[in-house]
Amino acid sequence: MKSLTVLLLVAIVMTARSQDINITKGWKFKTGDQMQWASPNLNDSDWEPIEVGKPWELQGHTGYNGYAWYRLRVVIPSSIKAKAFLKEKIHIDLGEIDDGDEVYLNGSLIGRNAGQGSDIRQGNYSLQRSYQLPIADSRIFWDKENVIAVRVYDSGGDGGMFTGKYGISMMDVTDYVEINANDHNFQFPAKGKISKKITIRSSSDKYDFNGKLQILISDPANDSTIFKQTIGVDFARDRPFEYTYKASLPQTKSYLVTYRFEEDRSKKIVSATEGIPYLLTPPTPETPRINGPAVYGVRPGSPFLFRIPATGKKPLIYEAAGLPAGLVLDKQTGIITGSLSEKGQYTVKLVVKNSLASASRSFRILCGDQIGLTPALGWNSWNCWGLTVNDEKVKASARVMHEKLADHGWAYINIDDGWEDKRNSNGEMLPNSKFPDMKGLTDYVHSLGLKVGIYSSPGPQTCGGFAGSYQHEEQDAKTYGAWGFDYLKYDWCSYGNVAPAQPSLEEYKKPYLVMGAGLAKAGRDILFSFCQYGMGEVWKWGAEAGGNSWRTTGDINDSWGSLSGIGFTQNTASPYAGPGHFNDPDMLVVGKVGWGPSLHNTRLTPDEQYTHISLWALLASPLLIGCDMSQLDDFTLNLLTNDEVLAVDQDALGRGADKIYEKDHLQVWEKELSDGSHALGIFNLGEKAAQAVIPLSDLHLAAQAQLRDLWRQQDLGVVKTAYRGAIPAHGVVFLKAKAAGNRK
Ligand code: GLA
Repeated sequence: MKSLTVLLLVAIVMTARSQDINITKGWKFKTGDQMQWASPNLNDSDWEPIEVGKPWELQGHTGYNGYAWYRLRVVIPSSIKAKAFLKEKIHIDLGEIDDGDEVYLNGSLIGRNAGQGSDIRQGNYSLQRSYQLPIADSRIFWDKENVIAVRVYDSGGDGGMFTGKYGISMMDVTDYVEINANDHNFQFPAKGKISKKITIRSSSDKYDFNGKLQILISDPANDSTIFKQTIGVDFARDRPFEYTYKASLPQTKSYLVTYRFEEDRSKKIVSATEGIPYLLTPPTPETPRINGPAVYGVRPGSPFLFRIPATGKKPLIYEAAGLPAGLVLDKQTGIITGSLSEKGQYTVKLVVKNSLASASRSFRILCGDQIGLTPALGWNSWNCWGLTVNDEKVKASARVMHEKLADHGWAYINIDDGWEDKRNSNGEMLPNSKFPDMKGLTDYVHSLGLKVGIYSSPGPQTCGGFAGSYQHEEQDAKTYGAWGFDYLKYDWCSYGNVAPAQPSLEEYKKPYLVMGAGLAKAGRDILFSFCQYGMGEVWKWGAEAGGNSWRTTGDINDSWGSLSGIGFTQNTASPYAGPGHFNDPDMLVVGKVGWGPSLHNTRLTPDEQYTHISLWALLASPLLIGCDMSQLDDFTLNLLTNDEVLAVDQDALGRGADKIYEKDHLQVWEKELSDGSHALGIFNLGEKAAQAVIPLSDLHLAAQAQLRDLWRQQDLGVVKTAYRGAIPAHGVVFLKAKAAGNRK
């Protein structure tokens, strides 16, 4: 949860490398902290066995925060030296560790991840730990038992050696070669054509490399080869190899490209595979279309701000018939402002016109206690900028949202951790120098018809180590209100040090009730987003404790393991979603992400990204884009602007999806919609493309069903007996089953 300065740590690259010694099994575990636990001579026979690659919360230590140690005994045979072409160093891969760690080999420290300082309590949880040692290093006991001891500190949420790669290997030629397909996006010069620039780099000062590069595009549905090219390659550290290939693709669907570099001297192979993005959302029509939620909640007396989301050829003229007294519409911008003094329900007819046509839609304003009737659609700074967020990045994100996304309903610009400085002599929280004028910033975002969010923790410190709201809750809520914020993400973090070790339900609720009481005095509607990673089954009580949404899990990252592990386990929490209170399986990991300051294209394949957005929409999750908005590529923009997909998320019934079918690698998630139809996501969790044949009765449909493909926005006509379709690996077919009469 901190940006990085890490001892002896090497970034992993896209390149696949195999491990000589498997170290996934045999680990021992103990909570607590004693430095003699690093010793190779310690008798750890009474320590409990633990799995790595899984948080300790899922292994009998629910809710445990603090120190714990992992130990492993492993023989390192000298035969791995003989096998290697280069005989220089070994590296020990220990996966990602939540939050910080220190690693000892046979009692000696070999590396530490402590974020920006020396205190592992500030470690960066999302880094793959890879420690290198020269083969002559006396800390390695060749052909004997070695003890790896890992001291871990977890400040909240998931803890321990929770995910990533594990192994001990010789550093070899292939470890110095990086195939980088990430720096440049795919280009789509014409229909069916792609081009892509790739780079091969060496990280070694000692060696130049020669070899052959094969580029192979395949259709994973039938393993056929679409394109193949082999070229000679040579490169050195100061002389990367760059190449742009061009290919034609027969259809708009999922294809894979594999880059395979064979090094001349060692004959070792470095390879990398990526999915080729394909655009499913059709171009937005020129005729007007009104998007976004059909229902909107506001409290009496609170400032009202809603920009009518509508697409179509500009200029658009907006009208709203039946607006209650107190609200006014700007017909040029579509922004409705004002306030309502009385509780009540108002049905307004929104009309949007341009030179080609006119569109209308009914819009219900509910003035009462409940706000956030549909999940928030917006952007949050964390998954791209981490703690390096600043005023200019926030404004730039707002500008892009206004220009490219707001017409589809995207509305929130949320600042995560990293804005805080300290308190003044009155105890009031001050922003740091990266945010010179908070009121000016919110005024700017509001002037675009968008809303703006802020972040804090109920603990003395936020997860990033800044001042939290502990014992200043009401004061902070009033500050947020005065600055003009519309959304608060309230992140447990160091509250773990204030709350008892095993909090009761009341103790889990307490900090949220205290801040909720503060927000009620803030003078404006502030959406309340709980972030405590699902502790105490928050979905069961989050609504009653005043949450408009609550995180159900630990932090997401841009890997299939993280995405699928979170997304496909949401059926427990799903029934508790409803208008004004939603489950939050964490923010989106599409586009250029990185947790700041350096960014990379999401490591999710295009199909995994279709799965991500479809599943999150089915779950009625807040959709918070986590990428650099100034670098939105064509694919990401296309993914985020499908109005039929977004409509499933924004549906006024506010239902969370149910898992209704599971067989082999296929799962179907179903969500009831307010027009009586159902959204169905048919997901393939397998590693290979699948031909799905699912009886309509298993989809809870009658013998004949009218289906529509939501991503392609195409009717599939009437389907009889069974749904049949190809589903890419880790991909989805997202359907709407129309007409209530079709239901069993
Ligand atoms: C926690 C949260 C993240 C982010 C960081 C900020 O890890 O779960 O979403 O807010 O803290 O430090």
